[in-house]
Amino acid sequence: MKAIQFSEYGEPDVLKMVDIEEPHPGRGQVRVAVKAAGVNALDWKLRSGIMHDFMPVSFPSGVGFEASGIVDEIGEGVSGVSVGDAVFGIGSNTMAENAILTSWAHKPEDMSFEIAAGLPVVVETATRILDQVGSKAGETLLVSGAAGGVGTAVIQFARHRGMTVIGTASEGKHDYLRKLGAIPTVYGAGLAERVRELAPQGVDAALDLAGSGIIPELIELVGDAARVLSISDFTASEYGAQFSPDAQPHPERVFAETARLYSEGSFQLHLEKTFPLTQVGEAQTLSREGHVTGKLVVSVS
Ligand SMILES: NC(=O)c1ccc[n+]([C@@H]2O[C@H](COP(=O)([O-])OP(=O)(O)OC[C@H]3O[C@@H](n4cnc5c(N)ncnc54)[C@H](OP(=O)(O)O)[C@@H]3O)[C@@H](O)[C@H]2O)c1
Repeated sequence: MKAIQFSEYGEPDVLKMVDIEEPHPGRGQVRVAVKAAGVNALDWKLRSGIMHDFMPVSFPSGVGFEASGIVDEIGEGVSGVSVGDAVFGIGSNTMAENAILTSWAHKPEDMSFEIAAGLPVVVETATRILDQVGSKAGETLLVSGAAGGVGTAVIQFARHRGMTVIGTASEGKHDYLRKLGAIPTVYGAGLAERVRELAPQGVDAALDLAGSGIIPELIELVGDAARVLSISDFTASEYGAQFSPDAQPHPERVFAETARLYSEGSFQLHLEKTFPLTQVGEAQTLSREGHVTGKLVVSVS
């Protein structure tokens, strides 16, 4: 099968389209004929080598952690899914014609394969960090970096949980945040004053998605370091805030819930751009620039 791989750290030109043996699912896994795969910042971080001390790569390495597709092989011990079913989920080396998924849900008919491919990582992350930071109806949540993939999912789940959400993004994305249900403000100097004006009652919890070095400011705003959480600032715990690195064990429940909300019309995912499999490097370059709205997706077949 055709797959995207890299055999050394470097710029996007280390990414190659190669012909390799098809993978086969192990216990509790399925294999899909991939229709589309989601792009995540982790993809370029691993490829560039900047994550080497935390997550070293074994070469040659595939690319991609999420996909949608048609189930074409089923591993031992798997029930509730058949060959031919359309699914989406989390797995490994998903930028390829076939990929293994370790957790999945059925894709609703009214959801495109591209949207489905962009959902798994962001909905897993969003629901995990909302649980970890605490999310009660009636509370106010501040989200730094709210217009990207994770932010798009966080805003919507937090609103479903009855929270008021203040989200930061550059000015041109404020309508996008409003449509998702958040109160927008810009990031950068003066953030604390702007947030105090928008939330005179105070902010109960804060999520740092962008990793822009603002943990102390968020702790000051919330008044309780335990209710500040980052997914991209490794220094968060030095200040007493939480850092959340690991996926929840059974995200398939969240995938199914997302599918239900999507079909009801109460969850959406904006795709900024869809790339062909030959342009994974271009997709990673756009992701690395750091200003994606919603998600980027690679269409495989
Ligand atoms: N630990 C985990 O489990 C986990 C899971 C998923 C993702 N992550 C990490 O979390 C980060 C966010 O992921 P993502 O998928 O949401 O990324 P993304 O889609 O690439 O996020 C891009 C967004 O970041 C915003 N942004 C850029 N600079 C900013 C700043 N200084 N302050 C506030 N917002 C800023 C941009 O808004 P503007 O265009 O308006 O600037 C853009 O909309 C990535 O670093 C990713 O690797 C970690």
